[in-house]
Amino acid sequence: MLELERVNSFYGRSHALHDLTVRIPDGKITAIVGRNGTGKTTLLKTIMGLSVKSSGRIMLKGQDLASEPTHRRARAGIAYVPQGRQIIPDFSVRENILMGGFASPSGRKIPELVPELFPYLKDNMDRPGGLLSGGQQQQLAIARALAAKPSILLLDEPTEGIQPNIVEDIQNVIIRLNREEGLSIALVEQNVAFARKAGDHFALLEKGRAVATGSIEGLTDELIHRHIAV
Ligand SMILES: Nc1ncnc2c1ncn2[C@@H]1O[C@H](COP(=O)(O)OP(=O)(O)OP(=O)(O)O)[C@@H](O)[C@H]1O
Ligand SMILES: [Mg+2]
Repeated sequence: MLELERVNSFYGRSHALHDLTVRIPDGKITAIVGRNGTGKTTLLKTIMGLSVKSSGRIMLKGQDLASEPTHRRARAGIAYVPQGRQIIPDFSVRENILMGGFASPSGRKIPELVPELFPYLKDNMDRPGGLLSGGQQQQLAIARALAAKPSILLLDEPTEGIQPNIVEDIQNVIIRLNREEGLSIALVEQNVAFARKAGDHFALLEKGRAVATGSIEGLTDELIHRHIAV
């Protein structure tokens, strides 16, 4: 279980997360939902220790990671697929994937699952990442995260701005990584239908606060209307 306890995060003097307590249980998918600008990305960045100042505890297997640098959090088994994917355009598919292996105990390798999950990547290892479509880049970003051999995957809007024919492929990969490979997943997702389908648990954020958390059945239409739908 990855557990955030009373976490506060700041950009300079701007207070982005307020006293957040959220659990990411082992072997489950936890959907993080909420309106634009409400702190979902900040939550994932806070878990990774990226670019935000924060206080509070980030507990993993009895260890508080809150004061650890990002690479130690990665070595502890957490991998991050950022919003917008952040592929290095001039690096090949292979190089982009291997970059993700920086924290892997077994060194930089193409993960065994990649050819099976992402045949396009397997067949285009030498292609520059920047020439891939948005959906292919998202697959590449997931492959790069898998190269760290994580036990916990943080996915920030993995189907945002992706052509519809690839959306379902990516959704299936996410479900498979959880159900078959046993990865724990925190999934930031604007698509409530998919959040409900894939999620076991949820955390609903509003203005940097967790207004509701729990098992996915608790993510009711009423909550959605009150906190998400305009
Ligand atoms: N680098 C930054 N510097 C200053 N403020 C920031 C920065 N990044 C985010 N914020 C602010 O922090 C708050 C939370 O932003 P965040 O990106 O976490 O929201 P989000 O829920 O991921 O939104 P979206 O659904 O649009 O991706 C917003 O008010 C945003 O303007
Ligand atoms: Mg975001």
